[in-house]
Amino acid sequence: MEKLLDQIRNFDQSRLPRHIAIIMDGNGRWAQQQGKPRVFGHQQGVNAVRNAIEGSGEAGVKYLTLFAFSTENWNRPAEEVNALTGLLVKAIHAELENLQKNQVRLKVIGNLKALPNECYHELLKAIDQTKENTGLTVILALSYSSRWEITEMAKNIGEKVKKNTLNPQEIDDQTVIDNLTTFDIPDPDILIRTGGEFRISNFLLYQIAYSELFFSSIMWPDFSKKTLWQIILDYFSRQRRFGKTSEQVSCSE
Ligand code: IPE
Ligand code: IPE
Ligand code: MG
Repeated sequence: MEKLLDQIRNFDQSRLPRHIAIIMDGNGRWAQQQGKPRVFGHQQGVNAVRNAIEGSGEAGVKYLTLFAFSTENWNRPAEEVNALTGLLVKAIHAELENLQKNQVRLKVIGNLKALPNECYHELLKAIDQTKENTGLTVILALSYSSRWEITEMAKNIGEKVKKNTLNPQEIDDQTVIDNLTTFDIPDPDILIRTGGEFRISNFLLYQIAYSELFFSSIMWPDFSKKTLWQIILDYFSRQRRFGKTSEQVSCSE
């Protein structure tokens, strides 16, 4: 396994993905396949989160965004929603020391006001305590959906126009980017979805315009550093053209 990491480290470091985003899917099915309750899958999913964080840090990735709870997930049975928010509080508490040791900086995107109080405060505390860390930035997407974010962006821009601090004719791509929750985070180079589904489920729709997509049949609790590193090596073999021809891109490399 260390060989995979060596291969990544020996590769042209200017082509290393700066930002990896993951739709962590398959916890419930993973548990049910073993005759266990869905919540057991979420609990085991915490180990996979640790693998993703450590594996990204060791590979030299700078940003890791994890889709942990979507706006639509509020529609799940209350029991599961409560288990998930409770697990989040517990996991942050238990992992904080490890995050500090690894110089991880924690951030959150999403409608945080919708989260239970305890959860919200635990998050703010962890964000504050890790804000000076200089290693990997981990962004948790919680109570997040891309359409919610885009609506908020429209509201923010509308307010600025109303206050005469923004001229509508001057609105450009950068204005939009500056008013999204990800304003200070580069777009993902890689988007991974585990759990065998081939959909985006309302995640970072604007930001993944040019991301390289990877769909894995692995259920999230089974996600390992090896899975991640194999995806990074696979990414190296892709040519990102951003609309240009293959020849243009290979000339400028
Ligand atoms: C992903 O696993 C975790 C969350 C969405 C919170 P799921 O809970 O969606 O697991 P499956 O897709 O039902 O197996
Ligand atoms: C997407 O998974 C959301 C998260 C991983 C947090 P879901 O399991 O909720 O997605 P759908 O409902 O199958 O599209
Ligand atoms: Mg799912």
